[in-house]
Amino acid sequence: MNLIVFPILIYYIVTIQGNPIIIDTFEDDWDYNIPPEDKPLLLPNEIHHPLPAVGKLQSIKKPVIIDDNHINASNAELGDAVRRKISCSLCKLGVLLLKNEVNQGTPVQEIRGKFITICVDFKIENEVVCSGIFDVFAPDVLPVLNTTTIGVAQICSLCLGEVCGDVENPLHEWSVQFPVEKKPSLKEKLNYVGDAPTFKVLHLSDTHFDPNYEEGSPANCEEPLCCHPYSTPNSTETLEPAGKWGSYSKCDMPKILIEHMLRHIAEEHKDIDYIIWTGDLPPHDVWNQTRGGNLYILEESVKQMEEAFPNIPIFPSLGNHEGVPAGSFPPPWVTETDASTSWLYTELSKQWSKWLPSSVNNTIFHGAFYSVLLRPGFRLISLNMNYCMSVNWWLVVNSTDPAKQLQWLIHELQEAEDKGEKVHIIGHIPPGDSDCLKVWSENFYKIIDRYEQTITAQFYGHTHTDEFEVFYDAETYKRPTGIAYIGPSITTYENQNPGYRIYYVDGDHNKTTRDVLDHETWITDLGKANEPNSEPHWFKSYSAREAYGMETLKPEEWDNLIDAMAKDKDLFKLFYKYYYKESPVRPVCDDKCELQILCDLKSGRSHYRHHICRELEEIFAN
Ligand SMILES: *[C@@H]1O[C@H](CO)[C@@H](O)[C@H](O)[C@H]1NC(C)=O
Ligand SMILES: *[C@@H]1O[C@H](CO)[C@@H](O)[C@H](O)[C@H]1NC(C)=O
Ligand SMILES: *[C@@H]1O[C@H](CO)[C@@H](O)[C@H](O)[C@H]1NC(C)=O
Ligand SMILES: *[C@@H]1O[C@H](CO)[C@@H](O)[C@H](O)[C@H]1NC(C)=O
Ligand SMILES: *[C@@H]1O[C@H](CO)[C@@H](O)[C@H](O)[C@H]1NC(C)=O
Ligand SMILES: *[C@@H]1O[C@H](CO)[C@@H](O)[C@H](O)[C@H]1NC(C)=O
Ligand SMILES: *[C@@H]1O[C@H](CO)[C@@H](O)[C@H](O)[C@H]1NC(C)=O
Ligand SMILES: [Zn+2]
Ligand SMILES: [Zn+2]
Repeated sequence: MNLIVFPILIYYIVTIQGNPIIIDTFEDDWDYNIPPEDKPLLLPNEIHHPLPAVGKLQSIKKPVIIDDNHINASNAELGDAVRRKISCSLCKLGVLLLKNEVNQGTPVQEIRGKFITICVDFKIENEVVCSGIFDVFAPDVLPVLNTTTIGVAQICSLCLGEVCGDVENPLHEWSVQFPVEKKPSLKEKLNYVGDAPTFKVLHLSDTHFDPNYEEGSPANCEEPLCCHPYSTPNSTETLEPAGKWGSYSKCDMPKILIEHMLRHIAEEHKDIDYIIWTGDLPPHDVWNQTRGGNLYILEESVKQMEEAFPNIPIFPSLGNHEGVPAGSFPPPWVTETDASTSWLYTELSKQWSKWLPSSVNNTIFHGAFYSVLLRPGFRLISLNMNYCMSVNWWLVVNSTDPAKQLQWLIHELQEAEDKGEKVHIIGHIPPGDSDCLKVWSENFYKIIDRYEQTITAQFYGHTHTDEFEVFYDAETYKRPTGIAYIGPSITTYENQNPGYRIYYVDGDHNKTTRDVLDHETWITDLGKANEPNSEPHWFKSYSAREAYGMETLKPEEWDNLIDAMAKDKDLFKLFYKYYYKESPVRPVCDDKCELQILCDLKSGRSHYRHHICRELEEIFAN
């Protein structure tokens, strides 16, 4: 989405125009050296959920009939490299144009007018959205921007990454400190003992609940989010009315769809042990959001979850859309209360405290991350991935380990290693996504490498598609060391069916691996749900074990799957169908798009594709 350029345009306006909050120190005296929570939150688990038989890859290799002739290409903007290339030139151009104005000391109102003109003339958005963006983003961005000394190319390269050039940027080079303890030598991995107890885990992500969704309103409109009574219909197309249960086009979720889904889950899966909930609750109309509006959505969403799952522990993490303006998460060195995130973190610690022990209050208040013990020997750590987000423009001023989150993570992981615990990590933005700052991602990758025998799985959302990221050793990038699952979104934004994910995790027994042993994706066919007198029917779309012929879903097996897909078009087609939750309006995926997606799957480290994807590129070049 081109929305990424707005903060940068405004950035230059305010650097010179000012209205500054004074940031004179990056000191943060918070002490991450806190004793980890050690009281287990879950009861002992004794249930064995039978896993389906491992699928035979031969049956996949036989002609798979995937009927994709009916697919209507609609969204050509696939793969973030393509999308970012556009943004990079726009970024530099916009910054240059506006800089001239600002240098001449033009008053803010006049700059607002010029900003809107550029924004409209370049067909970035229509006038309603352009002016909304200025009004929502400018007052918040203003204070950030009086401080930095880096130039246009550096800013665009920092925020957009690889595709905007690898510009030298010494102020944004930093490394976390590891403890003196040596990495333990690699032990042979245990394998899951059949019939042992397993946890059943629900993963919900990217709800994007839209309280202003209205059935019958324009589903094809000029704004980046439609299906509102006040959406501007696209004058060159015939009007498509928004469906009762949602729409495949640029729309988020009506309340009845979310409630229908939660009711179905509560009835269908009575044996869920715990829930991970990886953020992005508000809708995509970022030009028209207020703190009050987003807090309302947070409260409503928590209430919905409590009502649907009254007795099930829920572990949330924070999405980028929870901020106002979206993506704004000032690190703790922004101390002025108006600009800081305290408006959000105060409410979060209240809402999340329904499921979490009071000891997490310290870290949630400080940075909206936490660590809890699920069972003896099994820990869950929730990260605030907005501190790696490249359009969290506070980081342009100083990106060094915001809120000391990574240093705290290392502390937690070292304690876990010392006690022989296994750890699952949850968060919103996947660490290898190009929305994650290169320098942060590089540091994170080293942490995953160092603690590869402790961290058995990671779980994220944000991309809205059903995918994963394989991590490799940080030296050769050949030996798979970890796996991050990117759960499917509830929202249909854009061209999707709604969906959710179930994992089976090795449970309580003496030889437990705490590995994910299988996962299922459940969806509904939105087109059918919207037929007259119909409603959603939720069904299991696939299980990884069955569909991809995997024994235990270890990182090596996911790595093998990528290689197999690179050589087998039918297998990739199958994966791509699930990637879009079987949406009938998913875009056609050509070779370039296929390479892009396979490369994403190998990228646990962001903006490093030229290194990680070289072999894949060779396969595709032949
Ligand atoms: C930038 O901040 C300084 C204080 O650090 C202030 O004196 C100055 O006026 C600000 N500059 C602009 C252009 O607002
Ligand atoms: C695809 O387009 C055809 C005509 O262009 C239309 O009849 C059909 O309904 C469309 N399918 C979907 C799923 O939108
Ligand atoms: C950024 O903040 C860190 C403290 O978190 C500090 O050590 C570093 O010097 C700061 N960098 C710049 C460029 O000011
Ligand atoms: C309006 O529809 C036309 C034709 O499908 C399309 O090219 C154009 O991008 C749409 N405009 C907006 C603002 O979505
Ligand atoms: C913003 O949302 C309100 C409803 O909450 C609506 O009335 C208004 O028209 C919207 N404004 C824009 C610019 O979209
Ligand atoms: C969490 O900390 C805040 C501020 O220190 C305090 O106001 C709040 O009551 C605490 N909540 C809990 C559940 O301890
Ligand atoms: C499992 O561990 C418990 C306690 O450490 C021990 O009492 C029990 O005998 C072990 N069971 C097996 C099958 O090894
Ligand atoms: Zn999202
Ligand atoms: Zn997101």
